[in-house]
Amino acid sequence: MVQLFCADIAHVVADPFRDDHALQIIENGALAVADDGVILACDRRDTVRAAYPDAPETAFSGWLLPGMVDGHIHFPQTFATAAHGTHLLDWLERSIFPAEAAYADTPFAARAAATFVDQLLRSGTTTALVFGSQFPDAARALFRSASQAGLQLLSGLTLMDRGAPDVLLHDVARAEQLSRTLIEEVQGQARLHYALTPRFALSCSAEMMQLCGELARAYDGLYIQTHINENHEEITATADAFPAAKHYLDVYDRFGLLGPRTVLAHNIHACDAQLQRLQQSQSAVCHCPASNFYLGSGIFSLQRHLDHGVPVLVGTDIGAGTNFGVLEELASVYKAQQMQRLSLNAAQLLFLGTLAGARALHLDDRIGNFAVGKHADFVVVDAADDPGLSLRLSFCESREDALFTQLNLARPHHVRATYTLGRRYQPLGTKSY
Ligand code: GUN
Ligand code: ZN
Repeated sequence: MVQLFCADIAHVVADPFRDDHALQIIENGALAVADDGVILACDRRDTVRAAYPDAPETAFSGWLLPGMVDGHIHFPQTFATAAHGTHLLDWLERSIFPAEAAYADTPFAARAAATFVDQLLRSGTTTALVFGSQFPDAARALFRSASQAGLQLLSGLTLMDRGAPDVLLHDVARAEQLSRTLIEEVQGQARLHYALTPRFALSCSAEMMQLCGELARAYDGLYIQTHINENHEEITATADAFPAAKHYLDVYDRFGLLGPRTVLAHNIHACDAQLQRLQQSQSAVCHCPASNFYLGSGIFSLQRHLDHGVPVLVGTDIGAGTNFGVLEELASVYKAQQMQRLSLNAAQLLFLGTLAGARALHLDDRIGNFAVGKHADFVVVDAADDPGLSLRLSFCESREDALFTQLNLARPHHVRATYTLGRRYQPLGTKSY
């Protein structure tokens, strides 16, 4: 059965940093969605209705936008947001490693997985690249929860063999065995993808990174995710640990960890040589502004990445980040760039939260906008129950202005509904632990 979803639609159909006509706004628009959750049409409501005269429809006030893509977030930090620490390394040791150790308890981790997936979907995120747990049953629980709830998930076992409490570490042989098992379980499952996850150079020996490079070559379609150039102390300690490397990126490069399916989070403090190598290898960088502000890590230059042709996507980086939704993160993206005299417009903000992520993850044949044939993953953002914002929006002179304002003021309670493959997500009720 074909279904219609009617609202004001906005999506991005090209790169708005190169194309002034990338933003498409369809006032009074409709999506037609087939039974299998694939988009059949996206156009004005009367045009779509004429093509599908008998299709049942669901109409919304507010905006119908593509589902958001989160390029960097940590599952085992679900309950560690806004934890105190002076800066990255101190925060990891004091607040984060103990929180991550709690996922050794599989029933707890399974409940946390349901909560984590719920937080993402209820805030409008429909695809996420996620640091899994160090505990294989917890990592597995996340895949299961995502699959049940409809979230498209790219994730994997977080790998560390030094620099943290023993309970979080695996030796290389065990890391290989656990990773191979999980990869083989995940491969071939709809909307699930495996991401090799060496935490960062300071928590991985050369042998562990070597293993990740070998696994990436042994299996088709694996992603690699890690952190880079987030904090000055981290960068100095990495240089001390890998004295032969030219710079931080070179540590990963030496082990074959760069490439078009690699996502490196942060990259705040990067020299031109690293940006050039990122571009050459077509590795992507994930911008996580709320986290960068929260940990005082620094201000990411989007302009330098654009100038070098490095693919950039946006991540919330929970628990250093302070929002579960990329939709809400976009306001921090805007402010971080404003600080450097780059004023993003509505098209650029929406692109960074949707199509840019889809492209960086090579999923733009399936998600990122409402092109025919893609998955009907969308979020309805509506300020009708927010009197202050509704009034503010009534002063906007154009629909594009209203979209810009809504994107800068989005809160989780503005998300009226989230759909994946044309199916409405039912948020969980309050749970106790
Ligand atoms: N670098 C290594 N681990 C982490 C982490 O958990 N969060 C952030 N923000 N940076 C990291
Ligand atoms: Zn992170």
